[in-house]
Amino acid sequence: MDRSRRTPVIAGNWKMNLGPAACRALLEELLAELPADPGCEVLVCPPYLDLPLAAELLVGSPVALGAQNCHWENAGAYTGEIAPAMLREAGCRAVIVGHSERRQYFGETDETAGRRLAAAVEEGLTGILCVGESLADREAGEELAVCARQLAGGLSGIDAAGLSRVILAYEPVWAIGTGRTATAEEAGRVCRALRRMAAERYGEEAAAGLRILYGGSMNEKNARELLAQPDIDGGLIGGAALAAGRFCGIIAACGEEGVL
Ligand code: PGA
Repeated sequence: MDRSRRTPVIAGNWKMNLGPAACRALLEELLAELPADPGCEVLVCPPYLDLPLAAELLVGSPVALGAQNCHWENAGAYTGEIAPAMLREAGCRAVIVGHSERRQYFGETDETAGRRLAAAVEEGLTGILCVGESLADREAGEELAVCARQLAGGLSGIDAAGLSRVILAYEPVWAIGTGRTATAEEAGRVCRALRRMAAERYGEEAAAGLRILYGGSMNEKNARELLAQPDIDGGLIGGAALAAGRFCGIIAACGEEGVL
């Protein structure tokens, strides 16, 4: 499939790190280091509380703003939740849904991830749907079956038109925050399988335009090799997104000759 149709994305998932003061410091450093044309889409997803400040700092920059989760309703009695429309109003263009930490600690299921994704897309946001197997799944040789199930549930409310607002992130749970990355070939193999699954559901054309990111201990040292895989179109970065120099190193790897 023709890769040139897909603009790579480097997205930072800050998780529950950096309040407004630290957010300002990191974004100022990032904007100072980043080239005017980074050669890929760059996205940062800070905690909700930082969003208004981040939106202000990022005006006119090549960095887009995203959030780490959203609810499926746009208003109502859902204490502690944030609606897709609120994220849009705050300046977000994207939102992560179904992250494995949401699945592991907060009861997220394929069904709820699917509802969040559909609501985000409906609101005009780009939804980054995370899928990925646990270590036990992998040891049982179940990684593709698990990803297929998460994909089917997550995309249940997305039609072919909606798919253009979806980015997939393959994040093997055993590689997140552990320093243990999937080998580039291994990550590439699963991302290729995910694209094939998307093609079965939406057709070759739509699947050829779908961006699939790898996430799980991606850093400035291993990014080049991972990004060189033909079905890996970028990264969802946790730890290494919390330091401007490391995050910029990953963005630079995206532009290196022979990578894409
Ligand atoms: P990590 O996190 O880069 O710290 O492994 C990735 C993620 O969870 O999105």
